[in-house]
Amino acid sequence: MKISICGKGGSGKSTIVTLLANEFKARGYRVVVVDSDESNSGLYRMLGFDHPPIPLMELVGSKKGLKERMAVKFSSGESEPKMEKLTLNKILVKDIPPQHIKESDGLRLVNIGKILHSLEGCACPMGVLSREFLAKLYLDEGEIAIVDMEAGVEHFGRGIETSIDEVLAVVEPSFESLELALKVKQLAAGAGVKNTWAILNKITSDEIAMRLKDELARRGLEVIGIVHHDPKIFEACLEGHRLEEGVASKDIRGVVDAVLSKT
Ligand SMILES: Nc1ncnc2c1ncn2[C@@H]1O[C@H](COP(=O)(O)OP(=O)(O)OP(=O)(O)O)[C@@H](O)[C@H]1O
Ligand SMILES: [Mg+2]
Repeated sequence: MKISICGKGGSGKSTIVTLLANEFKARGYRVVVVDSDESNSGLYRMLGFDHPPIPLMELVGSKKGLKERMAVKFSSGESEPKMEKLTLNKILVKDIPPQHIKESDGLRLVNIGKILHSLEGCACPMGVLSREFLAKLYLDEGEIAIVDMEAGVEHFGRGIETSIDEVLAVVEPSFESLELALKVKQLAAGAGVKNTWAILNKITSDEIAMRLKDELARRGLEVIGIVHHDPKIFEACLEGHRLEEGVASKDIRGVVDAVLSKT
């Protein structure tokens, strides 16, 4: 199963990715977290790794090289660049070179690439790489991929979701976040994703949860789970530490139960 976590900037996507990864791992799944956010770099810390893996972008010849090849291909009339190292139809997790995948006790992390320099150009090559990598990533029985998406909906425009089975839209208590989740559902359906559900995050009262849930249900988006505001998460994010067990880790168990019962 390939799940992507989407939503408004700051709604808690990376937090939910980390909570889900830890919970699936605790249930015996071999988890591959795919960091597909080209801006933020702290996911590896949340997951408890000392360093991020070397981006896959380096494996395919760096963003600069890829962009140049894209330019040539585009000008020659081809719409897509070829990525030599990704021409295999199937990429198994064990085929990913060790410097490009961090592993700890059943939890693995790969990183597509980050914008590092001003004026280095747009993130389109990372989008192409994310899409190709996810499409070719072959998961064995007991393996699950959880993708941390960039904020917003541009990734749908890049077609990254075409091989994703389930989309979870993270909704924090704000109108903008709710609206974006509804947009995510619409775009995911257009990309052929089987299921899109909302996860409410940073919830501080039953009343707020109910209001959000009712509004989303009224507009056709089912809430699959609720994660409460957790001071331990706030503190870990403030300090840049790994996420510790807290109320949110308990909440995420219900989310995983619900996802597994529906898939
Ligand atoms: N359940 C929660 N309880 C308390 N604080 C939370 C919770 N979830 C997220 N946060 C807070 O929200 C902030 C943003 O979370 P996170 O980095 O996971 O969001 P994001 O959607 O990945 O952001 P970005 O769009 O920048 O990638 C964190 O710094 C943390 O303080
Ligand atoms: Mg994030």
